[in-house]
This record gives sequence, C-alpha cells and structure tokens, in this order.
Amino acid sequence: MANIKLPGLIDPHVHLREPGAIQKEDFQTGTKAAIAGGFTMILDMPNNPIATISPQALQEKIKLAKDRIFCDVGFHFGASKESIQYFPKIKNKVWGLKVYMNLTTGDLLMEDDKILESVFSSWPKNPPAGGPIIVHAEGDTLGKAIALAKKFGNQLHVAHVSLKREIEQIKVVKREGMNITCEVTPHHLFLSEEDLGRLGPYGMMKPPLESKDNQAALWQALIDGTIDMIGSDHAPHTKEEKQGEKPVYGVPGLETTLPLLLTAVNDGRLTIERMIELTYTNPRKVFDLPEQKDTFVEVDLGESYVIEENNLQTKCGWSPFTGMKVKGKVKKVVLRGQLIFDGQNIFGPYGQIL
Ligand code: DOR
Ligand code: ZN
Repeated sequence: MANIKLPGLIDPHVHLREPGAIQKEDFQTGTKAAIAGGFTMILDMPNNPIATISPQALQEKIKLAKDRIFCDVGFHFGASKESIQYFPKIKNKVWGLKVYMNLTTGDLLMEDDKILESVFSSWPKNPPAGGPIIVHAEGDTLGKAIALAKKFGNQLHVAHVSLKREIEQIKVVKREGMNITCEVTPHHLFLSEEDLGRLGPYGMMKPPLESKDNQAALWQALIDGTIDMIGSDHAPHTKEEKQGEKPVYGVPGLETTLPLLLTAVNDGRLTIERMIELTYTNPRKVFDLPEQKDTFVEVDLGESYVIEENNLQTKCGWSPFTGMKVKGKVKKVVLRGQLIFDGQNIFGPYGQIL
C-alpha cells in the first residue's frame, strides 16, 4: 500500500448542465462525480440552454444548487451583448467571465469585434472582483483574445489549449510579462486524433483531438510551466445525443482526470509536486479561491484498475477512457473534517456555494 494525501483538488472548468440539460448531468450527479474523482471544488460554466448571462439566471443556478451539491461549487458568468450591463452587479458572485470566441455547445458565440471590445473594456480590472476573462479561443482566435486583453489590461485565462502554436504564442506573451494563464484538458493529454476512429462521436469535442506532435508539445508545456493548470472540461452528453444525427461536442472528465494524472506520475512523466500545482495551487491562485479547511484526498498510488462505465457517478454513464488501465485510485475524500467518500460510497451533500 502506498497511500498518499493530496489537498482537495480544484477543477476550474466543469459543465454541470443544470438548469436546462439535466438529461446529461445535474448538480447532484455532477458533484458526486467530482468527489469520486478527488475534486472538492469546481467552477461551473455558463453555456446552459438558458445561459448564465443575467443576474436572474445566476440566481436560479444558486437556488437550484443549494443543499444539493456534494462538493463546493462556484460559477462563471457568460459574456454576451446583453450581459455587459450586468457586470457590476454580478462581479462579486462569480469567479470568471467566459467568452466563447469559437462555435461550440450553446449559443454564446461572440464574433463581433465591437461587442468583444465592449466586453473586455467593461469587465472589472481589479481582481479579485469578477476574476479573469476565460476565453474559448482556438487557433487563430487566440491572437485576437490576447490583443484585446493587452489593450484593456485584463487578466486572461485561456481554456483548453490543444495546439503547439497556441503554446508558443502564450510562452511569448508570458515572457513579456502579460497577466495570462492557461489550462489543458486530460483528453488532449491522453488521447489524440489517432483515437478518433475507435471512439467515433465519443471522441468529439471542442477543441478537437489533435496530432501526436501537438500532444507532445502539451506535455512539454505541462512540465516546463507554460501550462498553469488542468481543467477537465467535464462536458457530459447522453449516449443517445452522442450517437444521434447531429454531432454534439464534449466528453466527461471529472472521474478520470486524477487517475490518469497519477498514472503519469507512476510512469515518471510527471512529479506529484507538479501535479498538485496543476490541480490545486495554481487554480486556487489564479481564480483567487478560498481555502477549504481540514479537506484532503487520499489516493493509493500503487492500485491499478480499468476504467469502466458501470463505476461512474456521472449521469451520462460513459467515458472516452473506458477500458483504459490506470494506476492510482481515490480511496478517501474528507471535506471540512467530514468523510464524504470512502472509495465506494459518497456521503452528503455537504458542499457549499462559493
Ligand atoms: O467539447 C466541448 N463541449 N467544448 C466546449 O467548449 C463546450 C462543451 C459543452 O458544453 O458541451
Ligand atoms: Zn468547456
């Protein structure tokens, strides 16, 4: 037995789907998945069918989540032409502003330069109020996001980097001293376009799986510090939706992220110290998140198992990592002194809204 203790991990990028898409996930199932995966704090994205782009929509989420969450949950606000007016009102209730600059699930795409300028210029510049601007900016769009954040002096966080050229761009502006951070998903680290034939729709997400070359650049950036954190981009869809005519983008990730990272630790690709920076220290610092007292996760570094659909808490009931053998298992999670996961059973709900 090689049990080690980790802090309660933080996932800054989760789609809990409630309200509006609870066939995919809800506050209960999503936060149970978080706990089973060693995350005691997660931040929820705004691209629900009725998007989190008004104080009412934010209030509705808070109301629905209350007394039903098994880990602590904070919310990101969504940028839209209409939501700019609400920034002063909601800035102290959210942890970041999500700006969708490429097409993906939901209808929050923003392409109009004038409106984008207005979003970047209006978001509070003095963190902790509001937190960073988080951009979904793939490929060419990243340059536009960087230019806007430079022009208006925003703290910028780049979601799910997946390309070598994005890494290179971020490295340059980091060197110049820009206030910029970025995250990578476990699916871009552990899967590539070579898995697409096998996975079919279950391997489709935005940004898409990439070449081995790009994947290698992500691993290098993970080690050299260019990448600041892991964001699971837990984006569940039902099997029916995945197999339907219309493609839906996104994969679940809350329960597989830590075992995959521990496997990398076991393989000597990552140190446990660096893993803690990527899944706790840096997300906490970048989003200025509060401390969770007497909170920890115990993992058995030596225990191997195969990822199976039947053992998942997420409502969607599948994983792109099904069948994969991992080494490193979550054995226990304690939140504020209370046992909330014993390796099998989840207890609660004891989560709080952040
Ligand atoms: O694959 C994705 N799924 N990428 C996104 O940006 C959104 C997400 C979702 O909400 O389904
Ligand atoms: Zn996402």
